[in-house]
Amino acid sequence: MIIRREHAGDRPEVLALVEAAFPEPVEARLLRELFAAREYLPRLSLVAESERGEILGYVITTRAWIGAADSLGLGPIAVLPGYQRQGIGSALMHATIAAANDMAEQTIVLLGSTEYYPRFGFVPADSMGIASPDPSWGSHFMALALDAFVPGQHGHFKYSEPFNSL
Ligand SMILES: CC(C)(COP(=O)(O)OP(=O)(O)OC[C@H]1O[C@@H](n2cnc3c(N)ncnc32)[C@H](O)[C@@H]1OP(=O)(O)O)[C@@H](O)C(=O)NCCC(=O)NCCS
Repeated sequence: MIIRREHAGDRPEVLALVEAAFPEPVEARLLRELFAAREYLPRLSLVAESERGEILGYVITTRAWIGAADSLGLGPIAVLPGYQRQGIGSALMHATIAAANDMAEQTIVLLGSTEYYPRFGFVPADSMGIASPDPSWGSHFMALALDAFVPGQHGHFKYSEPFNSL
């Protein structure tokens, strides 16, 4: 398996994968909008591809903000049912973190499982002074300080525009 950047030709297969991985169509709809959004970052749209050329996993991370400062919002991430719990999601997370470090980004923020994301270094965002768009998300709203992180970036987190129409 390799992790590589997504190409526009991958999108039908990626959207089908996301539809298969989530019980509701909302994530695939969001992803369609993220592909077309100004906040789309080609270096942070990654597929996991098998030796046979099948796309087994996908993750996207888009421009976001903490107050006026640049940040990143991760999601959706999905692995094809049948291939989950074999390390593909972890490989996509590590590749995203490495690419974001290469881009000298400071933070990645996401909403997700408190069982899964702490293993990659994510902590509750409020412990870093990052205020959630929705306080009911509680400790599921998490952030990771990247290599270039400079403490003191307090403020309200704002996702890329397509997240606002969820
Ligand atoms: C979440 C997801 C991307 C993880 O990818 P994956 O390839 O299955 O995960 P990995 O193999 O890298 O990691 C497996 C580990 O994560 C845990 N894990 C996986 N998905 C989890 C979840 N949704 N909640 C809690 N723990 C999870 C497993 O228990 C396993 O733990 P272990 O190593 O201690 O046994 C994948 O399961 C998926 O597509 N799920 C459906 C869509 C989804 O829920 N996306 C995330 C929304 S936040």
